[in-house]
Formats: sequence, structure tokens, C-alpha cells
Amino acid sequence: MKRWICPLMALALWGCSAPEGLTEVSIGEPYAAKVDSVLRLMTLDEKIGQLNQYTGNFQATGPVVDDTTKIDQIKRGMVGSMLNIKGVANTRELQEYAMQSRLKIPLLFGLDVIHGMRTIYPIPLGEAASFDLDLMRRTAAGAAREAAAQGVHWTFAPMMDVSRDARWGRVMEGSGEDTWYGSLVAQARVKGFQGDDLADVETVMACAKHFAAYGACIAGKDYNAVDISDLTLHEVYLPPFKAAVDAGVASFMNSFNEINGIPSTGNRHIQRDLLKGAWGFNGLTVSDWGSIGEMIAHGFVPDLKGAAEAAILAGCDMDMESRAYVSNLKALVEEGKVPERYIDDAVRRVLLKKFQLGLFDDPFRYCDLEREARTVLCDSLRALSREAGRKSIVLLKNENNALPLAGFRGRIALIGSLAASKIDMRGFWANEGVIDEMVTVREGFERRFGARSVIYADGYDLETNELKLPEAMRAAAQADVVVVAVGERYFNSGEAKSRADINIPATHQQLVRELKRSGKRVIVLLMGGRPMIFNEMAPAADAILLTWWLGTEAGNAIADVVAGDYNPSGKLPMTFPAHVGQIPIYYNYKSTGRPESKDRGYSCCYQDIDFEPAYPFGYGLSYTTFEIGEPVLAKQTWKRGEDVEVTVRVKNTGRYAGRETVQLYVRDLVASVTRPVKELRGFRQVYLEPGEETEVRFTLGDAELGFHNAALEYVVEPGTFRVMVGPDSKRVKSAEFELL
Ligand code: BGC
Repeated sequence: MKRWICPLMALALWGCSAPEGLTEVSIGEPYAAKVDSVLRLMTLDEKIGQLNQYTGNFQATGPVVDDTTKIDQIKRGMVGSMLNIKGVANTRELQEYAMQSRLKIPLLFGLDVIHGMRTIYPIPLGEAASFDLDLMRRTAAGAAREAAAQGVHWTFAPMMDVSRDARWGRVMEGSGEDTWYGSLVAQARVKGFQGDDLADVETVMACAKHFAAYGACIAGKDYNAVDISDLTLHEVYLPPFKAAVDAGVASFMNSFNEINGIPSTGNRHIQRDLLKGAWGFNGLTVSDWGSIGEMIAHGFVPDLKGAAEAAILAGCDMDMESRAYVSNLKALVEEGKVPERYIDDAVRRVLLKKFQLGLFDDPFRYCDLEREARTVLCDSLRALSREAGRKSIVLLKNENNALPLAGFRGRIALIGSLAASKIDMRGFWANEGVIDEMVTVREGFERRFGARSVIYADGYDLETNELKLPEAMRAAAQADVVVVAVGERYFNSGEAKSRADINIPATHQQLVRELKRSGKRVIVLLMGGRPMIFNEMAPAADAILLTWWLGTEAGNAIADVVAGDYNPSGKLPMTFPAHVGQIPIYYNYKSTGRPESKDRGYSCCYQDIDFEPAYPFGYGLSYTTFEIGEPVLAKQTWKRGEDVEVTVRVKNTGRYAGRETVQLYVRDLVASVTRPVKELRGFRQVYLEPGEETEVRFTLGDAELGFHNAALEYVVEPGTFRVMVGPDSKRVKSAEFELL
């Protein structure tokens, strides 16, 4: 069989022609001469200082070593960057110290601006449910605007770790289980943060993290080892990072995990050969917090000096809080263990970013008190947060059109202390958001339905989850409909928040069942930062809205959807398992030789549970119904290089106007390495009035039809392909075509 190799993709191949050793940064004009002119003036100490990043003493996610000499080191040019410093006044103060250093090289201020700065947007996984790339670009741009107005130059986002294991707490920070979709989301977010030009004072540098395969941690335990085939690494985990490079991402952060025995931070192959070599990345790489020093605990190096040597040689430019570089690189150079050109290359990358941000022209250009006051939590960003909130909500169930409460005039029993918790609306990784500024569900409902129409009861204790049933039942008895908020707390998902059991609390599920006995319609608001299991509760709920953690405007966005002011359109970016024992579970699995079947007890099945998830990837209902037709191919046989055209008719067959995300999946039926049973390769959002019909068009080219073969070459192979279209990854209609 003939094989084709896509020439552009071939550049990205594992271990391909990257030269041995150092691939130096390639800096074009106007910056090359400027960067070199500064570099030439620098002493070795000053160069090493540029590679040193310290934290401010708050919002730390790891151990903070108390160091009273930081300011002194800034004045001596021994600090290149600070993280966890924000606000015009604070950043200005530190920048002034940097201006007292011999060469006056400005500091770079970095911060985890994960889903908003002061205005908080939905957690990234929730926002990914919108399937609205432009929205994700706009919220990233909004976050950048606010962060830059608060003196920040650099966000440690977006996280683009593909995550197939819902036990891993950090699934909340990414875009879910799909590599292809994750690549598009990564690009949208990078473009949002960075805009067209880093010189624009309303943008910040983005950071592709965590490089690499952090989401493949064994057993979903955070920071755990990753043991992975090259094929899976290239097919599943690396593409979003490559997409980020293509989108011009300014920086990379390496990951805490080891990959096949080599910690990422000391992994020369992924950082030098692949990222800076084959992918031609000209930005800077930063370690994760303390990850250089952590290579000692990994058992990869004996001490901090060995860690510094391994990291710099492997291509990690900046040391976040290990203090390994600042205390060891000079000796390593003097001993001849680290050639100075490695240091020079890292320093060039840092200086280039400082030039591109305009900091050499004006180190205080992000320090404008008036802009800060004007930008932070302004009306337009709040409106954006509300838009993002409503578009992220996923309708999981809606029996007998229990929702929406459009034109509803009765009384609502709003139950569940999560519905009145501001801090939970903010979600994890959102410390810059002020808790009091979050709109709770209770506030949103009282505003939308009128305070007298809402009877609130805790239902359970927020801290202990202990049931407060009598009061909840009383509220239900007085009302016409029950809305009950249940699920995870905000700190149950996030970094170091892995869980072996992703069932929501048993008392929450019991509460829903008890409330059903009131005879009233029971509408569940399910909150959380990951796929959750709630089998005991689900049958008792008439409707279930997955509301994640939606940020500043959470309560208003949820009220919009419950009232029918916005017709929910979100789709699950991760499979929701029916049982923890199914994990890892994802839609794009491989077929066994004895494919799944409900009637046979073959190897892919479990004896004790079904193999089906509770809700598949891509799933989400609407208040209306859509009919998606059969996929139609313009012709049966296509030549390689042609764009395969697929069309499908979509009709709104229900009573409300609404938005549907039509999804297209592909399978190469016979290939030199087996392909997943289906892979998302297109989606289109259509907004249709009741009765309205439209045609949706997809095109499939090399990027959609190819894969990495056993030699890790990106190839498109001829043969029969199946295309599948539908409203989710399960309910699909298919057609086949031949590729010559
Ligand atoms: C996290 C990173 C984060 C860094 C700085 C680490 O613990 O893994 O994602 O950017 O802390 O806060």
C-alpha cells in the first residue's frame, strides 16, 4: 500500500532532523541586534539572574522558602522575573528596584491567570463545553486586558493537557479529553491572551503548559509518573502543544511528571530535540514550581547542582522557585559542565520577550493606575463573563420539558447551600477574583424571579454535607417547583485535588430523592470541576443542568438558563463515567478484536457494570429538539489532496429557538496502525428558529484524515473512511467514502 507523508507535518516528527545539541533561538529584526547588544554587556552573574524567577510571598502553590534578600537580589540584577505579584502599585515598586540594577533590565511579572483576573469566567473545562472558540478567545483577551492593567506581563495559561482520567483534579483547568478539539481551544486561548502583538499593552504572554503528558499521570494521581508509548504521546498528548507553537505562543512550562523515566524538566528530548528543534519554538521555557529541585526526589539527580545542570542542558530556560540556577549555574559554567552558550541562548529568549513586550522602552508601561481602575471588573467584562457562563452550561436531562421556567409565576424552592456560596461560584485557580463580587444562584434567582418568589433552604451543611432535611422539605412544600444545587465544592477539583471516588456526596443525592417525594418538579443544578457520578440521584431529577463553576456572573447566567432567557447549548468536553471502575473512559478508544456488545461477555466488557458511560463526550440537550440528517458526500471517491466535502441538514423541530453543535467524527477503517473507533474532526454551531432548517458543510483534508504511523511519521493512508455526524459522539449517522 502506498503511503503519503504530509511535508509540513513531517517537520514535527519525533527525533527527526533536529541537530545534536543546542538549537539556538532564531531572532529576527528588529530585535536581534538589540538582544545581542544587551547580552554583550552582561556578566555571567547577570545572565544567570535573568533565568531566576522568585515568587511574591502569597498565593503560592508549593513550599515558599522565606527569603529576605529578594529585593537586594533584584537591585543586583539577580532576578529576571517575579510571579505572584500583581497590581500597579506592587509591580511598580519592584520594577523600580530593578531599575536600580547596573543594566536596568526590567522584571517580567508572571501570574496564574487561569480563568479570569478580577472578573472570573467559567473554569476552563466548563468553558470548553461551549464549543465556542471565539468566546474562548474573547474571555482570554478579557483576562489579559485586566491582568495587563494590573501590571502582569505573563500568564501561566492555557493548560492544554489532554485529560482522560476524571480522577485527576486538574481536568478542571484544561479542555477535556479530545486532542483535536483541545488543539483548537489551545490556539483560541493563546490568541486571546496574546492578541496580534505582545507590544499591545492590553495583552500578556501566554504559556503552553504543562509540557508534556501531565494528564496521563498513572491512576489520575497528580504529579504521578507517566509511562506512555511514543505513538500515544504523539497522537494524543503532544498535538495541542504543537498547535500552540503554530499559534505563536510566547512561552512553555514544563511539567512535574516524568515521562518514561525522564522528568520533563530534565528531558532533553522533548525540550531541545522536539520543542526548540523540530518545532522551531523561539519563545522561553520555564520550569514548573520547584520542578528543577524536584528531580532530586524523582531520583534523577543527586542534588540541586545536578538538577540545575540537567535542567539547563535539557532546555529549561527559567527556574521557577527552585533557586537551582542562581546558586549553581556559575560554578557549573566555570567547571566546564555547562557551556556558556547554553546560558546565552536561554538569556536571549528571556530578553527577546522583554523587548517584545516593550519593557526596555518603558519598564512601567503596564503600571498605569488610571487604566487599572478603568479596566478592572468593568461592565463589558462582566457581560462577557455572563455570556460565557450561559454558554458553558450543559443540559443533561429534561424530562417532560421540566425546564425552562419561562413565564413562570409560581414560587421556587431553591435548596442547597452551594446555591448561596460565593466562594464556590469563583471556582479553583481564581484567587484574583474577589469573593464578594461573585453572584450566587440565590442572588441571580431573586433578581430574575423576584425575591418573594424564591424560598431558600440550605438542604445540607456546606462544610460537612450533613443533611438539613426538615427545612428543605418545608421549603419544597411551600413551592411550585424545586431547584436544588448539589455537587462538588470548588476545592474538590484543581491542582493536587485528585480523587479516587468522583461520586458526588451521598447526602446530596439523598436530598434530591427526598425532594422528589414532595411531588414537585425537581430541577438539579450540578456543580463541579470534573466529570462526576450521581447515579442514585439522576432518576429522581426531572431536569439536570451541569453548571460547573461559572465565575463572577454565575448566578445570573444560571438564572438566564433556568428562566429560558438563554436556551442551553453546552456539550460535554469529557465523558461522564457511570462507574469509577470505567476510568479511564473516553469516546475515541480502540476496538478490540472482540468489539463491544451488550449480548456478549467479551473482554471489553465488565461482568458487573455496563460499558456505556453515563453521558458521552459531546453530549448536551437543548430546550428545543434538532433533527440532524444523514451525512452526504459530494462524491464517493476522492483523490488525496482534494478537500472531502460532507454536508448534512439540520432542522429545529421543537418549540424554542436554539443553538446546536453538529459534530463530525471520522474513522480510517483499515490503517497501518489501528485507529480509534471515531475521532472528532469537525463541528459547526448553528442557531435555528423553530421549524428552521439549514445545511451544514464540513471539509476534510490531510489534517483531518491523517495520523502518526509506527515510524511516527504523519501520514494519510488511502482506503475506506467512515464519517459520522450527530449531536454527540454516540448518536451518529454515518456514510463511507474511498480515498485514493
Ligand atoms: C502549577 C503551575 C503553576 C505554578 C505557579 C504549579 O504548582 O503546576 O500550573 O503555573 O504552580 O503557580
